Amino acid sequence: MNDQDQRPVYMDHAATTFMKPEVLAAMAPYFSRHFGNPSSLYRFARESRKGVEEARAQVAAALGAEPEEVYFTAGGSEADNWAIKGVAAAAKKKGDHIVTSAIEHHAVLHPCEALEKQGFSVTYLPVDEYGRVDPGDVEDAITERTILVSVMTANNEIGTIQPVAAIGRVAHDHGVLFHTDAVQAVGAVPIDVDDMGIDLLSLSGHKFYGPKGTGALYIRRGTRIENLVHGGGQERGRRAGTENVPGIVGLGRAIELATADIEGHNRRIAAMRDRLIRGSSSCSTLTGSAPPQGAPAPRRRLSRRTSSSRRDFPTRRRTGRSG
Ligand SMILES: Cc1ncc(COP(=O)(O)O)c(C=O)c1O
Repeated sequence: MNDQDQRPVYMDHAATTFMKPEVLAAMAPYFSRHFGNPSSLYRFARESRKGVEEARAQVAAALGAEPEEVYFTAGGSEADNWAIKGVAAAAKKKGDHIVTSAIEHHAVLHPCEALEKQGFSVTYLPVDEYGRVDPGDVEDAITERTILVSVMTANNEIGTIQPVAAIGRVAHDHGVLFHTDAVQAVGAVPIDVDDMGIDLLSLSGHKFYGPKGTGALYIRRGTRIENLVHGGGQERGRRAGTENVPGIVGLGRAIELATADIEGHNRRIAAMRDRLIRGSSSCSTLTGSAPPQGAPAPRRRLSRRTSSSRRDFPTRRRTGRSG
């Protein structure tokens, strides 16, 4: 066995991805040459402001949105918190009930739990054997008091892609806002906020070869939502704090690259995934997460997702847990 055979292999791209060299190159000038505060009124601000607005247009293009509907955050967790707490605060008079799924990321579940402590009620919908939320269950759960449905686009552990468009339709039929946590989906699932009936969408740069600590919340024009971070007037008065200009520029370039050829990317990754599953099934200490023999594969799941557990590990520890 030579040294190359012993190099560790990183297989947890659901937890985070490396940054693409093109992304790093796009960010570099904004650490030094273009260091101005984008909110300033003088010449030094101009290049920074331009970088931020170009990134906003890149994010909007990836989602089928307008640039004015994109607000930069410090990651997916902040975007999720903002969507859920912000809608709850703005809709207090209208209702106090939220519908979500039992398999959301903690960045959604914990804000929901925090709201429960303030008197809101939350329905945590079950999922089927493949992790799928039934849009019919969403409909059944909606009441007169429901203000928000929040169901993720794709799951971070098992990769199930949810029927987002159908869920969005159900929410809108009942006059309820629809938020989706698309943190794991951007770059893997084509997204169009209009076609999918999405009012609010969270994303995170470090899941698609961009920088960590960067993210965005898409807010459909006219959506009633309170601010989460109060302070200065950045992000058109919606999210305070001096912009992370290099990070935002990197996020913009990363989303542009990640959404340029989603189909081709998925094809390549799915081929690698299948090879990995085949290879690991011949390894005596691993049990793969490929569906049991004879079982139908989940119809829609992220191509980059597989998990396995070691037979000799305690049962609650899984090698594939991530993100
Ligand atoms: C589905 C999902 N939502 C939200 C988050 C949180 O994103 P961030 O790490 O940018 O705060 C993650 C990250 O693991 C995630 O997988």
